[in-house]
Amino acid sequence: MSEFSTTEITAGDEDLHSTAVPGNSRKVFIKTYGCQMNVYDSERMEDALSGEGFVQTNSMEEADLVLLNTCHIREKAAEKVFSEIGRIRQLKERRAGTGKPLTLGVTGCVAQAEGEEIMRRAPAVDLVAGPQTYHRLNDMVSKAASGERVIATEFEIEQKFAQMPQIERRSAIARGVAAFLTVQEGCDKFCTFCVVPYTRGAEVSRSPAQIIEEAKRLRDAGVREITLLGQNVNAWAGTLEGRSLNLGELIFELAEIDGVERLRYTTSHPIDMHPELLTAHRDVKKLMPYLHLPVQAGSDRVLKAMNRHHTRAEYIDLIAAIREARPDMAISGDFIVGFPGETDADFEDTIQVIREVTYASAFSFKYSPRPGTPGAELDAQVPETVKSERLQVLQDLLKEQQIAFNKACVGKQMDILLEKRGRKDGQLIGRSPWLQSVVVDGEPEEIGHFIRVRVTHGGPASLLAERA
Ligand code: 5AD
Ligand code: SF4
Repeated sequence: MSEFSTTEITAGDEDLHSTAVPGNSRKVFIKTYGCQMNVYDSERMEDALSGEGFVQTNSMEEADLVLLNTCHIREKAAEKVFSEIGRIRQLKERRAGTGKPLTLGVTGCVAQAEGEEIMRRAPAVDLVAGPQTYHRLNDMVSKAASGERVIATEFEIEQKFAQMPQIERRSAIARGVAAFLTVQEGCDKFCTFCVVPYTRGAEVSRSPAQIIEEAKRLRDAGVREITLLGQNVNAWAGTLEGRSLNLGELIFELAEIDGVERLRYTTSHPIDMHPELLTAHRDVKKLMPYLHLPVQAGSDRVLKAMNRHHTRAEYIDLIAAIREARPDMAISGDFIVGFPGETDADFEDTIQVIREVTYASAFSFKYSPRPGTPGAELDAQVPETVKSERLQVLQDLLKEQQIAFNKACVGKQMDILLEKRGRKDGQLIGRSPWLQSVVVDGEPEEIGHFIRVRVTHGGPASLLAERA
């Protein structure tokens, strides 16, 4: 799937959810795992449920409805879901006799891939809904709340795009000044390690008119930075007023919207980096100089076995072309170590690619065989110990590069978008053009504004700055 960052994000994060909770409303708690697309989907589900009178809560204990919006990308991610269901089952049992029953739903990619299995193994689950069925969520939730066990795993992406309710202004405001906007879902690439083509289905693009309208709604709610999301975002294609557009051309259109000051997109596949995208990077000031462009591995043999459709040299040349279009471009990537058959020499090729490209940030994983994918069937699975050793070497190098990138910012001036309060009073956290968190002194009224700062310190995960 999407080659997204895979931090775990809980819907209880205070800066995501500050909605007041009226006393007698039904309450929903959504726990979100995995990629940004799940974060976006969780927000849309919250918006849909609020139309039915649900309000969000940060506490699972007080929720009437708990939804686990799950990730299936690696084994560990899927396992977490079953242990979470076990914990919630106990809460559900405690609540059963109290007149305030708890409804439990599993959504997302585990629901899609293992829906039947969840229903069989986990009687506490009332609802299983795959990612393409959320436009029917309210209906399914009311059935589940009245005691029916509901399972929905059909692929209905066109209906989902057409029928999901619009973003709610109130919740968009509460969510902050940087927002995600899904423009594309699904994947036709079939990398041999990846479950996404099976869980999210084929590539489908949202219409440009819908995307532009959503961007304007976000802008009206105070959003200044929009990240366009797709499992294969640069495969996006659409038609606007009779004109065919690709992602680069869509970015030109979106940049025309006053008030939307910054644009980003993720996640991209190297084979879909068409010329218009490079032109957009060269000419569209609002398009930020940061690109997540996963390569996964550096050896041509492994790239072929992964079905990535490009060689190492093609990737390196592409990075050079992108940097020619936008010299200050920061590159980020995803890497997998220990794909079946990967030798020490193959791994060394990955290390060489990292040295040549130099990454500003990256995500790296041990290969995890996923049932139903071709990679899982291959002989020559690499032993766990070897995977762990390789991951350590690779992560040490990537960390070194990330720190070097941040340190190289010291003394530079840059514009940051102030996004939220810092940990200490009188501090704010802003975001740099290169997606770094920047800590600076300031007052909450300034959130949503851009300021110019000079960087005074570069740490591993964030920068410190003063006003320039
Ligand atoms: N094992 C390990 N990592 C994987 N990814 C996807 N599938 C697997 C797998 N089976 C990684 C890829 C992808 C990111 C989102 O997750 O690097 O880009
Ligand atoms: Fe998965 Fe490959 Fe599609 Fe990305 S491009 S979602 S890694 S199959």
